[in-house]
Amino acid sequence: MSHLLRHATATGLLLWLSTFLGVMHTQAQPNADRQVDALLAQMTLDEKIGQMTLLELGMVSTDGELDPAKLREVLVERHVGALLNTKTLTLAEWQAVVTTVQEVATEQTRLGIPLLFGIDAVHGHNYLAGGVIFPHNIAMAATWDPDLVRLGAEITAVELRASGINWNYSPVFDVVRQPLWSRFFETYGEDPYLVAELGKATVKGLQGEGLQGDDMAAQGRVASTAKHFLGYGIPLTGMDRTPAWIPERILRETFLPPFQEAIEAGVSSMMINSGEINGEPTHASYDLVTKLLRDELGFEGVAVTDWEDVDKLRSVHRVAATKKDAVRMAILAGIDMNMVPLSLEFNDLLAELVEEGAVPMARIDEAVRRILTLKVRLGLFDDPYPDTDLTTQVGSAASKAASLRAAQEAVTLLKNEDDVLPLARDARVLLTGPGATSLSALHGSWTYSWQGLDEDLYPDETLTFLEALQAKAGAEQITYVPGATFEEEVDIAAAVEAAREADVAVIALAEQASVEQIGTIFDLRLPEAQTRLVEAIAETGTPVVLVLVQNRPRIIREADAVAQAVVLGYQPGTFGANALADVLYGDINPSGKLPFTYPRYTGSLLFYDRTPGEEFVNNEDEPTYNPQYEFGHGLSYTTFAYSDLTLSATEISPDDEVTVSVTVTNTGDRAGEEVVLWFVGDLVASITPAVKQLRGFEKIALAPGERRVVTVTLDRDDLAFVGTDLQWIVEPGDFTVMVGDQEATFTVR
Ligand code: BGC
Repeated sequence: MSHLLRHATATGLLLWLSTFLGVMHTQAQPNADRQVDALLAQMTLDEKIGQMTLLELGMVSTDGELDPAKLREVLVERHVGALLNTKTLTLAEWQAVVTTVQEVATEQTRLGIPLLFGIDAVHGHNYLAGGVIFPHNIAMAATWDPDLVRLGAEITAVELRASGINWNYSPVFDVVRQPLWSRFFETYGEDPYLVAELGKATVKGLQGEGLQGDDMAAQGRVASTAKHFLGYGIPLTGMDRTPAWIPERILRETFLPPFQEAIEAGVSSMMINSGEINGEPTHASYDLVTKLLRDELGFEGVAVTDWEDVDKLRSVHRVAATKKDAVRMAILAGIDMNMVPLSLEFNDLLAELVEEGAVPMARIDEAVRRILTLKVRLGLFDDPYPDTDLTTQVGSAASKAASLRAAQEAVTLLKNEDDVLPLARDARVLLTGPGATSLSALHGSWTYSWQGLDEDLYPDETLTFLEALQAKAGAEQITYVPGATFEEEVDIAAAVEAAREADVAVIALAEQASVEQIGTIFDLRLPEAQTRLVEAIAETGTPVVLVLVQNRPRIIREADAVAQAVVLGYQPGTFGANALADVLYGDINPSGKLPFTYPRYTGSLLFYDRTPGEEFVNNEDEPTYNPQYEFGHGLSYTTFAYSDLTLSATEISPDDEVTVSVTVTNTGDRAGEEVVLWFVGDLVASITPAVKQLRGFEKIALAPGERRVVTVTLDRDDLAFVGTDLQWIVEPGDFTVMVGDQEATFTVR
């Protein structure tokens, strides 16, 4: 509220006052509607189209500095209503930039409408110098901890609002079903239920509790975006933004539910998928963007395009012959805002289309109404400026502690033969491999730059894995030999020599940070050089611990076969090196569990909810479904036993609930956390049923010897599937509930 009166100006004063009085903090919906109606009634066509235009900050800058002439042209003369940015600035720079652009928008334009300012703060405010960076989503998913995910989003929202940014392009609600995909790590994994739960936690962390974002005007809240609607996570080629072929039944059963939940959680905006589904580019699909998203799911927020995607209808997908036709198709499909973001051509083309009658004014009004409503709900008419009261919370010790905790909870112990881990403090350790010294690999892309590779932008105190091990055990205990870069061998003989002198070899296998088209790979296998490094060291007989830092599950079959322990770090963020060291030396008992199926072969990419037909045995020597590590897998330094699975009923009708409980006991000698995963399998159904599907999870902490009864209630939704008529149905028959090594069957009559 600090800028409340200072920025009330002559041009916008009357409107501003009515706005302020109208919405205050009550944010009552009718008031918002009245305010939006009043604005809409005054707006020219160009002003309306300006609200539908999202441009990159470079469009109002010259040589990286805001340019008054361009600001005037873009914001005042062309009425542009939203900006985004993909560059890292300091907090003071952000505050200055946002203050200036909002001043121009609210003081120099006829109607004084504040700007939406959007950004991809996808694992922390990753475009803020010193912003607190969390593990990427795939690692957050491995924590199975919605409260922690929500806390991370709350911290991000505070850092955004302090910077003046009011709109986040997060969270990703894509279900990933293609391990090659260069955005694998941005997702919450392969399971729709897990994706939905963690996505909702993120929405609430960013926006607050209120339905339809009514809490968003509260301090430290921003608007969130569910992306990318729909079917982005399963490109057939494995390459980013390439076509998906998804039968509608599967689209509805696997990919749609998380977005439905996002809407129920009040998500403010929906970013449309850059790709195609079944030959139809999503941005041109009336069926998806209007019939499904609006009419069926009831989404009332803003549908925003992805980067340059309207024109890609012409330049890539070739469903439009001209730029103008591309605009017509996207707007008629139901797009509200175009992330153009590097030209003003869209504005002219859309104006022509409306004047020619090819796009009805009602469509424009509908889009602008949604955008203005979002601005009202965000409280921007009250105060569009950076919330400087939040400055002291930016980069706070508590926020950093949350990031460390997230990394500690994410690290997943995949293998630990002969209890080679945890390491003794006085063990002589050889550290080798490309993950030992790369900060960017630990952080992944979207870290201080799009690809995350500019390590000069990283805070000075960020530790590499080598530095974290040295800090933990003492530099004299750690011998470092490079061994390999991401792709090339670097004197493997020297690493082998050093391994002979060591008690244990820790080999940090890694993939360079990358995303979108730049992250394309054609081969899921770990690069040869890294595999050779592992095999050569293993031949010495020194125990091998693999630490994996990667964008997606690279095939590690050969390396895994000769290693005693495997620790998956995903992309654990700024405190990831510390967390890995904590786990290696036993200061943290690992509790991460895989949020995806880790494949063993490039040619066998089944998911945990495979169908019996998919796992049909084609080779007597090896099952068809034989992943390297299963969905939900993750070891601890203690052991847990499951017992006494009990059902409240063994026969129910489709609308009854059944309560299931199980006792979990910590049977080891260390305190530990266990994630209890509940699966249900439909034994016989009219559509080939999945072998099992996740229907609930709970993370519990148990002291040695402690036991706890954990319960889940299954209802109709947990037994249903999408039938051939595209409706969710429950069919009578037997169902199995599975938890740990326990299972029991009940019957639906
Ligand atoms: C990505 C989106 C992102 C947008 C804005 C696109 O390239 O696909 O996820 O939100 O850029 O930076």
